[in-house]
Amino acid sequence: MSPLLEVRGLRVNFLTDRGIARAVDGVSFSIESGRTLGVVGESGCGKSVTSRAILRLVDPPGWIESGEILFAGRERREDLVKLPANGRRMRAIRGGEIAMIFQEPMTALNPVFTIGDQTVEALRLHRSMPAAEARERAVAAFASVGIPAPEQRFREYPHQLSGGMRQRAMIAMAMICNPQLLIADEPTTALDVTIQAQVLDLMNEMRQQFDGSILFITHDLGVIAGMADDVIVMYRGKVVESAPVRDLFRQPRHPYTRGLLRSAPSLVKGNREKLEAIEGTVPQPTEHIRGCAFAPRCAHVMPRCRETVPALAGGEQHRAACFLHHDETEEMYDAV
Ligand SMILES: Nc1ncnc2c1ncn2[C@@H]1O[C@H](COP(=O)(O)OP(=O)(O)OP(=O)(O)O)[C@@H](O)[C@H]1O
Ligand SMILES: [Mg+2]
Repeated sequence: MSPLLEVRGLRVNFLTDRGIARAVDGVSFSIESGRTLGVVGESGCGKSVTSRAILRLVDPPGWIESGEILFAGRERREDLVKLPANGRRMRAIRGGEIAMIFQEPMTALNPVFTIGDQTVEALRLHRSMPAAEARERAVAAFASVGIPAPEQRFREYPHQLSGGMRQRAMIAMAMICNPQLLIADEPTTALDVTIQAQVLDLMNEMRQQFDGSILFITHDLGVIAGMADDVIVMYRGKVVESAPVRDLFRQPRHPYTRGLLRSAPSLVKGNREKLEAIEGTVPQPTEHIRGCAFAPRCAHVMPRCRETVPALAGGEQHRAACFLHHDETEEMYDAV
């Protein structure tokens, strides 16, 4: 069976005043039905641009340079890159078959409509349903995400809700059309820590009822541990490691992944001295790099790393883009 979503060799560029920024530089991954794929990596590595490309929301000065986004939609498997970004089919997919929860809900919600009207509108657009029925479904959805007094909240505008309640409303809106794929781009980063935990619990609960797949984006490996089945680690527009979540935590292969694990405050519990930041900074996406983009920061760098870009290699399940692992020597790593 083919996966629900298969991204192959995706490249997304932006034209900037410093030249062409290769924000997404040949990314491939797939998501099976019913599974959650976590995407991690430092700020600017291309996580949001990848997810926006899937929904065909990359606007000028950005463009999809090449690649395929094969989505097994309700009717057929199609390459989303080939569809007109604002055509009928893409509009039906956005919200109806692939829904997204954005990092900052204020930018995704329309400030001039009540959250109730926006939810009803989404249902009517994608599931052509009588207004009264849509309203009933929407109120029930608000109640199911733990919004107290949902009837009353229904009539409120986005700015009248707290951050946590807005995020819950976004989740209800994203889930209401029963999408096959839910993209959650840092769904809790804008929230304070206690609300964050509640929203993550809620997403895990929803996940049990929802038999679709989730693409879960975060820079927090602790969150990945609790949410994902499989993980891809991104660095400077590329996937540098991909593995089932347990393998990634037990035997991380790429030096960048190891660095991320050692620097994750949510993993190094109660022992802050053990936290180690990864030295150096991520090269700009406009900079041309000959070999591995992590080489300048890597403690294990070898001459060939500065010459050639290592391919993502390894077994079916666990792969890394690093010459240390190209010969498949299994190195035991004393994990955090
Ligand atoms: N509109 C734009 N114009 C120019 N460059 C852009 C634009 N949008 C994104 N980029 C660049 O693309 C790269 C990837 O950005 P992206 O937003 O995907 O990062 P991210 O991994 O989501 O980071 P974060 O964790 O901070 O959300 C960055 O270098 C960013 O500067
Ligand atoms: Mg982002």
